[in-house]
Amino acid sequence: MKHEVVGELEKILGKERVSTEIADLYVYGFDASIHHVTPDAVVRPANAQQVSEIVKLANRTETPIVPRGAGTAMCGHTVPVKGGIIVDMTQMNKIKELRVEDLYCVVEPGVIYDKLNAELSKRGFWFPATPGSGEACTIGGMVATNASGMRAIKYGATRDYVLGLEVVLPTGEIIHTGTRTLKNSSGYQLDRLMVGSEGTLGIITEITMRFTMKPKASGMTVAAFKSLKDAGQCVSNIIAKPLLPSAIELMDSVCIKAINKCMNIGLPDCEALCMIEVDGHPVAVEEEMVTVEEICKSTGAVSTEKSRDKKKIDEWTQARKAIMPSLSRYGEKFVSVALADDMSVPISRIPEAVVAFQKIAEENGVVVGTYGHSADGNLHTKMLVEPYSRESWKAGEKAVGMIYDKVLELGGTVTGEHGVAITKAPYMQKERADSLGAMRAIKHALDPKNIMNPGKIFDWEGSIIYELRYPAFLEPSCSSTPCNQCDNEH
Ligand code: LAC
Ligand code: ZN
Repeated sequence: MKHEVVGELEKILGKERVSTEIADLYVYGFDASIHHVTPDAVVRPANAQQVSEIVKLANRTETPIVPRGAGTAMCGHTVPVKGGIIVDMTQMNKIKELRVEDLYCVVEPGVIYDKLNAELSKRGFWFPATPGSGEACTIGGMVATNASGMRAIKYGATRDYVLGLEVVLPTGEIIHTGTRTLKNSSGYQLDRLMVGSEGTLGIITEITMRFTMKPKASGMTVAAFKSLKDAGQCVSNIIAKPLLPSAIELMDSVCIKAINKCMNIGLPDCEALCMIEVDGHPVAVEEEMVTVEEICKSTGAVSTEKSRDKKKIDEWTQARKAIMPSLSRYGEKFVSVALADDMSVPISRIPEAVVAFQKIAEENGVVVGTYGHSADGNLHTKMLVEPYSRESWKAGEKAVGMIYDKVLELGGTVTGEHGVAITKAPYMQKERADSLGAMRAIKHALDPKNIMNPGKIFDWEGSIIYELRYPAFLEPSCSSTPCNQCDNEH
């Protein structure tokens, strides 16, 4: 990055909102993915006007620029692979309007998901997308990735709640898309284009979003199965009944063992289990829980336990949320990493998918924990790798390729809720082969100088095990491009 850019950033924002401190640059090089690259500067704007000035400067000086919320993204979305400026949006964190009578609110992008829901809850409403990182993640980040979580089967994903956006385009121009109304057929749905654009088309500075009524009651059933296939079949049988749960979280024996090792919750020690949540009117909840239990038993459940007690439901939900950190303690030499982490398949293909994932893990000698929001076909796998062993990463990468080939064969997608960025780019490029040209055309039209989060999604080339946060993976001499010292592609 050109030296004078920092001085100009300080003129726009004041010195206190710009940092080139080595410690800041180091930490802003991470998100929740396996990747790390150090930026050249970090800025923390306070309003859309400042964002616009920053982007104009980046455009004029052709400096890469990467917007960022809480950094909970799992695929390298906010890792600045071409260096440049990280724009930390967390200072813009106001709820500007909240109109329950009109079913919409207007928020700045740095508002945290749980904080928005705390405000909505007081009034009997909620934004039910329920991402796993809800305590930390920001609404702006959720829009940028079309994030969701366990309740998408009944309530949809972030895109279903976005009514309108204020966006700073790569030229610095501020535009407004969408409306404050629940319906709108007024021209191109540009807000839809921005949802899931991962910071490549502009910086979101304001979000108008709808929300919905909070259900009066909920209940949860935990059903244990003797095979992963039976658990997968149970999901499909519940939906086909027909019965619309608010969530079904499936987990395999690797995940169950990891949770039981780390938390004193005593999940049934079985091959697989499903946590099935229903919500709505209390009478309907009671009735649906009986039906759920019947379906579980007729699909081979070896035990079921159900509860309408909030404390118990919270405990089970916390156990489910603890899968990721627990997996890192599964075995001493392993860390759990986000590889092949959020594919989706048509619901009825879940049994086939989960069995195939286990077989692929065995064939490649890697440990894979499979779990996920199975009610809508969205599965997570977390791979346990030895972080400093190149062989382990290579085996993991091979397994990832095989898992995604299977997912595509089953009619699925490589990412249901986390997005593409780096870690899924080669597989998304395979999935979307016939529309990459259209995506590039849109990108070029809005961002001809390619300054916004460059090098990601359709522009990522080569392997996913590159720019890793684990430096010992590389040979000591391996810092040049191209590299003939190791077999890492860079
Ligand atoms: C979850 C994140 C990984 O569901 O999406 O826990
Ligand atoms: Zn998830």
